[in-house]
Amino acid sequence: MECLNVKYENKPCYNIHFRPDFTDLATVFKSDLNKQYDNICVVSDSNVAGLYLAEVVQIFKGLCDNVCSFSFDAGEASKNLDTVSLLYEHLIMKKFTRSSLLVALGGGVVGDLTGFAAATFLRGIDFIQVPTTLLSQVDSSVGGKTGVDFNQYKNMVGAFKMPKMVYMNIGTLKTLDADNFACGMGEVIKHGLISDKDFYQWLKDNKDKVMAREYEALAYMVQKNCDIKRYVVEIDPTEKGIRAYLNFGHTLGHAIEKLCNFSLGHGQCVGVGMVCASYLSMKLGYITESEYNDIIDCLKLYNMPVSVSGLTAADILEASKSDKKMTGKKIKFTILKAIGEAASYLDFTDEDLLEAIDQVLD
Ligand SMILES: NC(=O)c1ccc[n+]([C@@H]2O[C@H](COP(=O)([O-])OP(=O)(O)OC[C@H]3O[C@@H](n4cnc5c(N)ncnc54)[C@H](O)[C@@H]3O)[C@@H](O)[C@H]2O)c1
Ligand SMILES: [Zn+2]
Repeated sequence: MECLNVKYENKPCYNIHFRPDFTDLATVFKSDLNKQYDNICVVSDSNVAGLYLAEVVQIFKGLCDNVCSFSFDAGEASKNLDTVSLLYEHLIMKKFTRSSLLVALGGGVVGDLTGFAAATFLRGIDFIQVPTTLLSQVDSSVGGKTGVDFNQYKNMVGAFKMPKMVYMNIGTLKTLDADNFACGMGEVIKHGLISDKDFYQWLKDNKDKVMAREYEALAYMVQKNCDIKRYVVEIDPTEKGIRAYLNFGHTLGHAIEKLCNFSLGHGQCVGVGMVCASYLSMKLGYITESEYNDIIDCLKLYNMPVSVSGLTAADILEASKSDKKMTGKKIKFTILKAIGEAASYLDFTDEDLLEAIDQVLD
């Protein structure tokens, strides 16, 4: 599989291409988009710009007469409306029209921000995603969610906006640091646990190849993840039902992320949250104690933390209650019905949750 088509409202919508480098970018762009754009802006951040921007801009220069670039300081702190304003100004100055295109070259921050700008500039212009982190390849670039943070609220302002194409150069993962790689692995392990037992087993069997970032192993892993996420978002594009399963580990994970002031990566916090959610799944009798321990071992295999220090269970519970994913006063919790199968659960008491959180406190 070198290409995966994602449907939206039951119609073919966009292709995701998996490649080892940028060689085919121009060719697949021409065949997928089949449209002459008057302007193209490649958006990236200060790290990615130094690594890949020149090569990507050069490729687009062969496809369009007016190609420019825009980059901002790397990091979540830039994912806000101020940066979006600077991008709008840049696009206005460069005379972008409704026949112009944005290219998001970077991780989830670049993808979410560029997608949001594309959804809103001139009431919507086309954009494509060229994700360069593991997290953005296996998660954020699939599904059409875009947005920025507002004050202290994460992803508070956003829009659903489908890209015209996603081009994954899996070779870019070679330059990603270990922490950001582990962050993406949190979502990868989550995808296995909620929907594919065999893939979860594959992850345990192929740890050395994945950690050595062997192309074949990464290509298989990224494609498998995109297929899992594609399946979920096609059935439930606006999160009314099973898309909530993707929140496995996130309810408590987000709370931990917030409380440790984002000093631990998102995927790492989700990993810790998955330990709690797996503990609760065990308590409900859905998974065995040895399966629970096996999940912890799998996270450790991929250098993910399975506990946190300096926080209290009460604080974590409190913070999780202010999260967006609540139904009425109850926390909507995703649990495992089995390894490879998820479900929603609404009836945990505070005592249940505190007991689960205790498992991950140092
Ligand atoms: N839209 C969605 O559905 C969705 C889903 C999950 C997460 N997200 C969002 O994604 C964001 C996190 O994404 P992320 O983890 O990719 O963060 P990121 O975009 O900040 O990238 C992490 C770091 O890696 C650097 N980087 C990127 N590619 C690189 C490469 N190939 N080599 C070396 N360094 C590289 C970046 O400059 C940055 O410093 C969050 O804002 C989160 O809210 C969105
Ligand atoms: Zn996540």
